[in-house]
Amino acid sequence: MAMAAGKQISVAPMMDVTDRHCRYFLRQISPHVRLYTEMITAEAILHGDQERLLAFDPVEHPLAVQLGGHDPVQLAAAARIAAARGYDEINLNVGCPSDRVRDGRFGACLMLDAERVARCVAAMAEAVHVPVTVKTRIGVDDQDSYEFLAAFVERVARAGCGTFIVHARKAILQGLSPRENREVPPLLPERVHRLKREFPALRIIINGGIASLERIDAELALLDGVMLGRKVAGDPSFLAAVEARFFASGDNHQAFDRDHVVRRMCEYAQRQAGSGLRLHQVTRHMLGLYHGQPGARGWRRLLSEQAGRPGAQPQLLLESLDAMSMSNQA
Ligand SMILES: Cc1cc2nc3c(=O)[nH]c(=O)nc-3n(C[C@H](O)[C@H](O)[C@H](O)COP(=O)(O)O)c2cc1C
Repeated sequence: MAMAAGKQISVAPMMDVTDRHCRYFLRQISPHVRLYTEMITAEAILHGDQERLLAFDPVEHPLAVQLGGHDPVQLAAAARIAAARGYDEINLNVGCPSDRVRDGRFGACLMLDAERVARCVAAMAEAVHVPVTVKTRIGVDDQDSYEFLAAFVERVARAGCGTFIVHARKAILQGLSPRENREVPPLLPERVHRLKREFPALRIIINGGIASLERIDAELALLDGVMLGRKVAGDPSFLAAVEARFFASGDNHQAFDRDHVVRRMCEYAQRQAGSGLRLHQVTRHMLGLYHGQPGARGWRRLLSEQAGRPGAQPQLLLESLDAMSMSNQA
């Protein structure tokens, strides 16, 4: 059965993962999930190569850009540039705990300064007509009570943020790597549920450790949406099951065909080859496509060994497909 109107399922912003090639690939699997860019700093947008940082293919819609920064003027300017390029949502990162991000005084440590986040959001909301949203944690270090989270959300909502994506674990700013910060602090989804009960007018999206259709179903019954991260990165075909369960309505649903996705990606890589793209930049996102299927290991091995070689051609994708189906028949 299709999802209730107004509910949302998205793929999380992931550095080094959700670049434009990854997003194009995921879009071949799911026409409807919302996609996010990797975090891009406002400074990079203002002073860097905007085309490289912000270009995307129109099929990627609905598409949000995630910004990193702490300066309202810079963030507003970066948001304006991204909105003019056609992004559907501007999201502010208030959840990343890495040292580099903390030293830049943005990411998760901003949760400790709700006033500043409010000023950033107000400036961004003033600058663009698309929604400005915030992705945050349930707390930081010893500021980990529900009351702290509620006060942060209340303040930032008043500045013009109507949607919060909440990674349901706190961030620990000293002593844990970013990876450990996605695993060690316990997930407390009930905090996010309480937030929705106490702020029913806000859109509250939950993130963190969600990896089954049943769990998505249960969260959508309580909240406005679900954001999926590592499950999709490791098993992108999971999105086909999400698409079938939550977005398909009767006759518009086409059965998912992994081989068809590979052929589409081969065409994509051929189109991109002219702009100097290396095949590996596309195929690295596709290694998990056959996760759990016969031949998955051979697929992964062939692509990871050969796509990085100098001069590797998009045709390698079709050859890998053939090699897999021959070995499955043997
Ligand atoms: C490789 C990787 C890179 C990430 N990069 C970002 C990022 O750029 N911005 C962000 O807000 N979160 C980032 N995250 C965190 C995810 O968006 C998400 O909050 C986290 O992985 C928890 O969700 P999950 O359990 O579904 O993976 C990253 C996570 C991973 C695994």
